Amino acid sequence: MLRTFKYLKPYIIPILFIFIFVGTRAFLDLQLPRIMGEVFDEAVSGKESSIIKSEIIKLGIQMLGITLLSIVVTIVSGFLESRVSAKYAKKLRDEVYTKIQSFSLDELDELTVSSLITRTTNDIQQVQQTVNMLLRMVVLMPFIATGAIIMALTKEPTLSIILVVSVSTLLILIAFVFIVTMPKFGIIQKLVDKLNLVTRENLKGLKVVRAYDMESYQEEKTNKVADDNRKLNIFVNRIFTLMWPGASLIMGLTSVGLAYFAIKFGFIETSSKFTPGDLSALIQYSNRTIMSFMMLTMILIAIPRASISAKRIMQVLDKPLVIYDKKDALVIEDVKGQVEFKNVSFKYPSAEENILTNINFVAQPNKVTAFIGSTGSGKSTLINLIPRLYDTTEGSVLIDGINVKDIKLSSLYEKIGYVPQQGILFKGTIESNIGFSSQSTDESIIKSAHIAQAKDFIENTQDGYQTEIAQGGKNVSGGQRQRLSIARALAKNAKIMIFDDSFSALDYKTDQNLRKALKENLNVTTLIVAQRINTIKDADQIIVLDKGQIVGIGKHDDLLKNCPIYLEIAQSQLSSEELAYAK
Ligand SMILES: Nc1ncnc2c1ncn2[C@@H]1O[C@H](COP(=O)(O)OP(=O)(O)OP(=O)(O)O)[C@@H](O)[C@H]1O
Ligand SMILES: [Mg+2]
Repeated sequence: MLRTFKYLKPYIIPILFIFIFVGTRAFLDLQLPRIMGEVFDEAVSGKESSIIKSEIIKLGIQMLGITLLSIVVTIVSGFLESRVSAKYAKKLRDEVYTKIQSFSLDELDELTVSSLITRTTNDIQQVQQTVNMLLRMVVLMPFIATGAIIMALTKEPTLSIILVVSVSTLLILIAFVFIVTMPKFGIIQKLVDKLNLVTRENLKGLKVVRAYDMESYQEEKTNKVADDNRKLNIFVNRIFTLMWPGASLIMGLTSVGLAYFAIKFGFIETSSKFTPGDLSALIQYSNRTIMSFMMLTMILIAIPRASISAKRIMQVLDKPLVIYDKKDALVIEDVKGQVEFKNVSFKYPSAEENILTNINFVAQPNKVTAFIGSTGSGKSTLINLIPRLYDTTEGSVLIDGINVKDIKLSSLYEKIGYVPQQGILFKGTIESNIGFSSQSTDESIIKSAHIAQAKDFIENTQDGYQTEIAQGGKNVSGGQRQRLSIARALAKNAKIMIFDDSFSALDYKTDQNLRKALKENLNVTTLIVAQRINTIKDADQIIVLDKGQIVGIGKHDDLLKNCPIYLEIAQSQLSSEELAYAK
């Protein structure tokens, strides 16, 4: 928690002002019981009633003035507190967000997306609220408590012993609550995490849950977590509810005790120094002391809760980046676009075994290199190594002979157009989606839509390029989404184009037209992952992957003759006439 406070540094001056305001407020607040006491003394002073009246009015006006001033100070400092804590939260959120943006898939896999969402929203909010409370209470409460105790002692030290007794009792009560509830908070936080997970899973998999008629099973799962959570929360809240009446009881007893002993030991009659007004003031001071301790407790309870959140936030910020720019990283210009894999092996950090083993090939500029292989053979993994979504475990990936690890990330990204296996669209318009890259132009948007075979369907929509795309591209079909994703990558005018199984949702004819258009229009290095032989059979070079190894490289015709695995895939997809024709 303390470490997140460094983000408060820029606001040190407003914070100082807050402390001054809050101190002023505490000082003003402490004047009221004293004046109230004077009012009492006036009332029983036995002076002429008109004089008493005017004196009381004078004191009343004083009290009113102090209260008004206190209100103004409270408003101003409240305004500052909210501002500082909101800015602090924004700074924290920005930092976390920037950090997440530079995470590779490694870190995302490890921390998980759903947890990162909670950390950027809920956790930061928790910390923000606590900081807001701290700014106010941390000065106010000790001020009032010490002030009230001092005032009480100066009024009458003997009677103040009662106050000491009641504060000690209160502290015991607080300690008890702490010991019982503290361990529960950690558990509650974990249960909230779990509840989020189950709920997310349920909502995301709604269709599957329905289709398999598993609503009641899922409901039971959710209910169990929710129930555990509820029980713990009720328990903790019950304890807390006990605390307030407990404190009120102590307050009441203290007041009665003070009055009782004041009368019993004759403070009021014998000592002219101690008046009924003093008694009233003393009672109010002791009440304020008890209240301050209660408020302090509330903060002390909030801090560990916020600490858990702060820890989760700092975990993100502290995470060392796996993929980052070297100090002397190169900016590459005018690339030809040759992509080479040299003895590349790769293992996912979470896995034991290599997914890719000793991969060697060169993809030439202006040529199409295709990848085929059974599902899980490592095609996506291989492709992901080029834009450094992951880094190789052994060997190197080279662009024009330069290791991608030596290239500045922004420069590398600039050279690569990438269409992921799952077409992803953002909320916005068709135009904003295709023109997502800053490298795209109005012209390239229209041209790429044309190449990606998306032109007809775009022009058939009511608003054309201005058609709204819903979140996640839910209002377009799978094939349309793929075409828009392809157009987006093309509009970037990159030198190296990567298509990860991006033609799978296209019908045969569109697939064919698209490949033809790509060939005619692009002078780039094209890397295509595909499931269908038809998609790749015209490629300049086909690489057959099996269990993470290359088992064949060549053209369609050669592979049919030399690569049994390729032949097997071909036989399962092509008619015997097509195969015979190839042979
Ligand atoms: N993030 C990950 N962490 C751990 N293992 C992974 C991860 N992603 C993929 N794998 C594993 O790596 C292997 C290769 O996956 P990959 O996605 O590269 O296959 P693919 O050839 O693209 O398959 P498909 O044709 O189904 O897309 C699989 O066995 C998979 O279980
Ligand atoms: Mg894949």
